[in-house]
Amino acid sequence: MKQRLLLVDDDEVFLRPLHRTLELAGYEVLPVQSAEEALDTLKTEDVDLVLTDRRLPGLDGVGLVRQIRAEHADLAIVVMTAYGSIESAVEAMRLGAEDYLVKPFEAPELLLVIRRAIEFQALKSANRRSIRRNQERFTFRNIVARSAGMHAVFDVLRSVVDLDTTVLIHGETGVGKELLARSVHFSGARHDRPFVAVNCAAIPAELFESELFGSRKGAFTGASEHRRGHFQMAHGGTLLLDEIGEMPLHLQSKLLRAIEEKKVTSVGADRPVDIDVRFIATTNKDLQAEVERGAFRRDLFYRLSVLPVRVPALRERPEDIPLLAQHFLAELGRRLKKSVKAVAPESLDALIRYPWPGNVRELENVIERAVIVSRSEVLTGLEGFLSGPSGAHAPVDLSLPFRDAKARVVEEFERTYVQGLLETHGGKLTAAAKHADMDPKNFSDKMTRYGLRRQTAEPGEGGPRAT
Ligand SMILES: Nc1ncnc2c1ncn2[C@@H]1O[C@H](COP(=O)(O)OP(=O)(O)OP(=O)(O)O)[C@@H](O)[C@H]1O
Ligand SMILES: [Mg+2]
Repeated sequence: MKQRLLLVDDDEVFLRPLHRTLELAGYEVLPVQSAEEALDTLKTEDVDLVLTDRRLPGLDGVGLVRQIRAEHADLAIVVMTAYGSIESAVEAMRLGAEDYLVKPFEAPELLLVIRRAIEFQALKSANRRSIRRNQERFTFRNIVARSAGMHAVFDVLRSVVDLDTTVLIHGETGVGKELLARSVHFSGARHDRPFVAVNCAAIPAELFESELFGSRKGAFTGASEHRRGHFQMAHGGTLLLDEIGEMPLHLQSKLLRAIEEKKVTSVGADRPVDIDVRFIATTNKDLQAEVERGAFRRDLFYRLSVLPVRVPALRERPEDIPLLAQHFLAELGRRLKKSVKAVAPESLDALIRYPWPGNVRELENVIERAVIVSRSEVLTGLEGFLSGPSGAHAPVDLSLPFRDAKARVVEEFERTYVQGLLETHGGKLTAAAKHADMDPKNFSDKMTRYGLRRQTAEPGEGGPRAT
């Protein structure tokens, strides 16, 4: 299909040869004499590029650019201007024109500028579309949760999306830390700038600086070209320092310096460059404890944890499980082209009771496996996919007499049950006992029997877990 150009010029003498050149080059040309006519045409016609003179009888070329941009984000515009009025061409570019041509110009220059303007506009549109998709995908609204614990997390994060506050998101593996980090970026002021994630656990120590800060050509063997580091790539946007707790101690000081000075020096460069980056760090380690045992720098910890946010484990928010299960069921059913509608009640119960060491990611995987093997609209037998205490039962010791063997299994069950409930309720005995429908005294006796300690921290705090 031919690309279409809208040609706006009232100078017949100039227009005719221009028109011919463009047609010869394979474009379809719609000629009009004024900005008003051009705007009228755009109401009904699709074109790829507007080529307009700056001087027009009514509304001039610059005014036309402004009007077009208000309604057509995806249209390329090139302004033709006389040598004496280059400032107006600059103004047109500021208003969103892709390029300008200074009269008189030759055909090759004209065709080059047009081709580049259309390409540039196509890239910009693709970029806008991808940003829009990310914005729709990564919003707090798309994060499935009904629990108060998760809503508290959303509230805190929402309050800083437009600020440059450094956020430290911590929580067990698979709780949704990266999803939250992306949502902070794509809901906030920097949403149309890059989001760059760097997995701190995966960078080899010897490449740390070149990966993060970039390298100049020839800085070391193998550096055959200039390379931008993650910091430069994230300029203007957000840098996610994923799994920050895994970063080797001797590299942490370099990272801290870059964060504090807001400057990085590429390997082999003489001078640092300024960077404007918002940082989000995630970890599944207890960084405070890492600091205490000397495995994480205290100064870096303080710098990162301006706003620490703890994402609760899935077993601390069992009320989210049915919702998440339904969400993944619908999504995977669509992706795997299977009609699945619900999880069978017995299976759902098992999901709610299961402690989910791999959290939401594990739940997603379990549902995926079940959807793959399922032959009906209602998923059954999910219990079989669960590992660990409530999935596989403790092995029965056949060498013991029946009564002892049974006592052993019961003991194992009680220990798991009591411990699991304590974990689910943040170590709070009364809440756990209530959930079990047991007398608190009785519950507490069992804790003593199995060596489970009660929580000592303030009620409501994450606090140390009973172990
Ligand atoms: N509340 C949620 N709603 C929908 N999907 C979720 C939710 N929480 C997590 N997920 C999904 O679960 C998976 C794991 O989430 P994510 O990668 O963000 O976890 P993480 O905490 O960064 O894990 P890790 O510590 O292992 O890196 C992803 O596929 C994510 O989209
Ligand atoms: Mg992650």
